[in-house]
Amino acid sequence: MNEHGHIPVLLNEVLETLAPRPGDVVVDCTLGRGGHAMALGQAIGPDGLLLGLDRDSENLAYASKRLQEAEIPASTIHDSFARVTEHVQALGRPANVVLADLGVSSNQLDDARRGFGFHDESPLDMRLDQQEQIDLTKLLAEIEESELAHLIRTYGEDPFANAIARKVAQERQTRPITTTGHLLDLVKEAYGPRARSSRLHPATRTFMALRIALNDEIAALETLLDRIGRGCESARTGGWLHPEARVGIISFHSLEDRPVKQAFAELDRRGLASRLTRRLVRPSDSEIQENPRSRSARFRAIRVSDPASPSG
Ligand SMILES: C[S@@+](CC[C@H](N)C(=O)[O-])C[C@H]1O[C@@H](n2cnc3c(N)ncnc32)[C@H](O)[C@@H]1O
Repeated sequence: MNEHGHIPVLLNEVLETLAPRPGDVVVDCTLGRGGHAMALGQAIGPDGLLLGLDRDSENLAYASKRLQEAEIPASTIHDSFARVTEHVQALGRPANVVLADLGVSSNQLDDARRGFGFHDESPLDMRLDQQEQIDLTKLLAEIEESELAHLIRTYGEDPFANAIARKVAQERQTRPITTTGHLLDLVKEAYGPRARSSRLHPATRTFMALRIALNDEIAALETLLDRIGRGCESARTGGWLHPEARVGIISFHSLEDRPVKQAFAELDRRGLASRLTRRLVRPSDSEIQENPRSRSARFRAIRVSDPASPSG
């Protein structure tokens, strides 16, 4: 791990593909610890502008400080990328480069206070935005068993979703579930002897599913894809995307990658954008060795089509 608590994934591929230039407006939808933003920001020079968003106020503050110390012209906002259009429009300049690096950063996973990782005594929190009212403890106390099973099946693709939901529902009748260790034990019990033959930790899928559900991550991504689509349609008429904007998304599992792939293919088919990554871009073996958490990263990018340009 580096000093910032997170190593930006596919950094060279992102820079090469999104090609930030002096004077560009770059939008980093998921600022995190600022790894990608620093590299993108260094390319835009004093006339450029970097707009950074994050739902996590601690990450936002950390990245803002880094950008400020490096004298990168930046504006950072505590909000979801679902509202990216409004924030870019407020700048009065369309975006030339947009990046979204989905999910959570390593420091969030490693921070025992946040409850994202497998720390025994962490509170069951998992909120990306610390200002949200509902954390995982509250969700697990209130959700219907059938709804919980549905979430674990849909977002975690866990074959034992029903058994896990049943365990949670039984347990909470006698004892509230408030720590990650407690939930880990319940998932292990639901797996029974099958836990030993599972390649992943048996709770991996459940944890991911609950994080995605609690933070409404797929809905936010779908809204972003919708905004990108509208941005492509309106690029020639003063929309939030510049007529030759490059837009890239890094995802970490098929639930995220599938809608990205479909949305980009559709824009390409309609002649509104062209794909900059014909094939899925994945980390090299050496990147995975250096940063095992990059293993499941997948990058796709498009360029908005400008019918007025010879290459558009
Ligand atoms: C993988 S990290 C980004 C790391 C960053 N690229 C870097 O190099 O440091 C993902 C970040 O996105 C944030 N995030 C997740 N969903 C978000 C959303 N809908 N809107 C804004 N930020 C979001 C998380 O809080 C986290 O800080």
